Amino acid sequence: MSRLQAEHLYKVFGRRPDQAVRKLESGTDREELRADGTTAAVIDASFTVEPGQIFVVMGLSGSGKSTLLRMLNGLLDPTAGRVLFDGQDLTALSPRELRKVRSSKISMVFQHFALFPHRSVLDNAAYGLAVQGVPRAEREKRAAEALEMTGLAGWEKSWPDELSGGMQQRVGLARALATDADLLLMDESFSALDPLIRREMQSQLLELQKRLKKTIVFITHDLNEAMRLGDRIAVMRDGKIVQQGTAEDILVRPANDYVASFIQDVDRSRVLTAGSIMEQPEKGRSDEELLAEAPATVSAETPIAELFTPCSTSGVAVAVTDAQGDVIGVVPRNRLLAALGEEPRIETVLPAPRDVKKVTAGA
Ligand SMILES: Nc1ncnc2c1ncn2[C@@H]1O[C@H](COP(=O)(O)OP(=O)(O)OP(=O)(O)O)[C@@H](O)[C@H]1O
Ligand SMILES: [Mg+2]
Repeated sequence: MSRLQAEHLYKVFGRRPDQAVRKLESGTDREELRADGTTAAVIDASFTVEPGQIFVVMGLSGSGKSTLLRMLNGLLDPTAGRVLFDGQDLTALSPRELRKVRSSKISMVFQHFALFPHRSVLDNAAYGLAVQGVPRAEREKRAAEALEMTGLAGWEKSWPDELSGGMQQRVGLARALATDADLLLMDESFSALDPLIRREMQSQLLELQKRLKKTIVFITHDLNEAMRLGDRIAVMRDGKIVQQGTAEDILVRPANDYVASFIQDVDRSRVLTAGSIMEQPEKGRSDEELLAEAPATVSAETPIAELFTPCSTSGVAVAVTDAQGDVIGVVPRNRLLAALGEEPRIETVLPAPRDVKKVTAGA
């Protein structure tokens, strides 16, 4: 169980990167730097991923997502800032120590997983363990378990080209899981899959995560995917994290027009929850009464998509209860419909650039 922390990470490509960081810190625009051939790919990124959380980084092409991810596993050296994993400063390790941490604690899953065509599925899944020097018998056992977790039991002896694209991606995931690494870094891992398979993979990841409780950073272009998977989501634009929060934070309170433009196409009914739209029950009505007449009882975390059926068959409000079964609120039909149609509230007063850190850190 390991916490991952990024502290004021910068990555600048080009001439005099250190000087460029100082300029960025004092407010110089990234475009100005570009004029003399310097690319500020990541600018002052800070966040914490708690053990067991899926932290999603989303943004358009070129916004710096992959560069950020490569700094998290030490493949790229930050120009400034630190990466702490398990309390250990990865940026301060010797190349040898870093290789050790990388092979034992961190796994990456890419968009196009390069499987070895002349090795069996089992050998491919065991590859990370082979790199770690795990003896054959043990690595085959662990790889077989990982293949089972990703739904590939029975395919161990097959060759990669006998598998569909979706199954090959599962082998990639199995390879990452087999090593027992606490930190999974996933860069557009599902983006090349067709929509149905992609959804299936998302479900499987969520299912596995309930059990394995890894620390996961997941990169995607797709906001629906981000909202489905992310316990927290960071939105990147031009190298900066412009907002971070839960799916609901981002949907209900987008920090600026850029984020708002992303969320236009999101299926609000799957992100908003009963808890976020419920009303107080009428005064003077007991829990028993409310529960007896409600067409359904749900928890605060239930997506409102699941309230349509009960609300459509009854004029009476759905009851929202806590873990003890006490009524904490109600959702009447008109409230449900209103919540769907509501425009998100865009914070019209944008924080000054210097305040962004404070606003986003731990928000
Ligand atoms: N090695 C490099 N040298 C110079 N510039 C680079 C290098 N790697 C990335 N960049 C630049 O840094 C910026 C961020 O790139 P990055 O690949 O991190 O974006 P991304 O968000 O992952 O994009 P995509 O969604 O297309 O994968 C881009 O402008 C890119 O051209
Ligand atoms: Mg990328």
